[in-house]
Amino acid sequence: MSSERSSFTGKIGFVLAAAGSAVGLGNIWRFPYLAAKYGGGIFLLVYIILSVTFGFSLMVAEIAIGRKTKLSPIGAYTSLDKRFSFVGWLGALIPVMILPYYSVIGGWVLKYLFGFITGEASSMAEGTYFGGYIAKAGEPIVWFLLFIALTAVIVLFGVEKGIEKVSKIMMPILVLLTLFIAVYTIVTLDGAFDGLLYYIKPDFSQFSIMTVVAAMGQLFYSMSLAMGIMITFGSYMKKDISIEKSVHQIELFDTGIAFLAGMMIVPAVFAFEGGNVENMDKGAGLMFITLPQIFKTMPGGTVIGVLFFFMVLLAALTSAISLMETVVSIFQDKLKMGRKSSCFLVLGICLLLGIPSALGSSAWSGVTLLGKQFLDFFDFITNSIFMPVVAFATCLFVGYFIKPRSAIEDEVSLSSPFRGRLLYRVIIRYIAPICILTILVSSVLEAFKIISI
Ligand code: PHE
Repeated sequence: MSSERSSFTGKIGFVLAAAGSAVGLGNIWRFPYLAAKYGGGIFLLVYIILSVTFGFSLMVAEIAIGRKTKLSPIGAYTSLDKRFSFVGWLGALIPVMILPYYSVIGGWVLKYLFGFITGEASSMAEGTYFGGYIAKAGEPIVWFLLFIALTAVIVLFGVEKGIEKVSKIMMPILVLLTLFIAVYTIVTLDGAFDGLLYYIKPDFSQFSIMTVVAAMGQLFYSMSLAMGIMITFGSYMKKDISIEKSVHQIELFDTGIAFLAGMMIVPAVFAFEGGNVENMDKGAGLMFITLPQIFKTMPGGTVIGVLFFFMVLLAALTSAISLMETVVSIFQDKLKMGRKSSCFLVLGICLLLGIPSALGSSAWSGVTLLGKQFLDFFDFITNSIFMPVVAFATCLFVGYFIKPRSAIEDEVSLSSPFRGRLLYRVIIRYIAPICILTILVSSVLEAFKIISI
């Protein structure tokens, strides 16, 4: 993306850029630990259902808003209906809150890549390594700074195109590698096959409303929804490209990679825990604890680990770039700043919000917000509160207030017949608003410990 509104050259260009933003740590790091925590198969099932219904409808709506108005989110909502400009503003706030802690985790990936290159692979496979690492105050900050600096340099020098080209080649390799690691684990690790069953067979007794809360937050996060990013992408999209088909492809890509990542990690933790489901809730560190253990059992595991972490780093970078680009262009537009100065302002904010997240398990482990450490707190309020609010308002807006009422459907039909029209309409107008509201209320009540679910 650049500040002047260029277009993607073709359909593949659009799909790949949007997929580059969507596929990232959300798929590889966040999805597996949630799946492990929220009952395996039941989480997977709820997630897939939400993805083909809510995910599809919301992504169609956001891309259509962008393509119709040719504006960034705040401008888009304001031009369509002034009363809804707050949705654009609220959406704009979300990437500002995600980027800092996203970069902390990006820093963990850098550290592990570096460790695997410098021969630390076997000590990284010790069960206590990760906990010991994040309990250090200095080092995680250094890696966090490196990750954010790398992102900023790419954005500042406008070389995203180059990175996107590289990741176009790397993405398929990442998919194959993930598949290989998953199959290897399931075939060779005792107990991993039962873990696979835990991951793919829904156990309805594990269902709770928190399964849906977590799956929906994850869906918004993973598909880069409810924060204006897809509106921005839509604003660059040409009128003759099918919105509906592109959304199907992005969705397949994004959900497919999350599924594979889960298959690589969940059966392995299940086996390492001897099938004890109670112990599966390893939280945000899961990927960094389990993967080195798998690589250790593999012939040539260190090399595979290097390759793997390198590709995860690329996927994380393309997502971080889209987050930073969004914030930078908002500052450019709204604060009338130059590109360079807005980039530095974003960096400043990231340092301010990212350092507490990086210190959450060390110097500042005693400081909690709503009973959560900083990283979990930012993750929680963006995914479980802000994004549902934006998604809810988006549904109301495109379902009831937009003029004419059929504006989105007309925009989608410009390039090809809108086959999912009925599904879209029912979801956006009726099902999504009710579900999102229920979920929002439950997660707020749960956060303030008014109820426990
Ligand atoms: N979707 C990205 C991921 O799965 C994260 C992200 C969120 C990127 C929001 C951009 C905006 O990692």
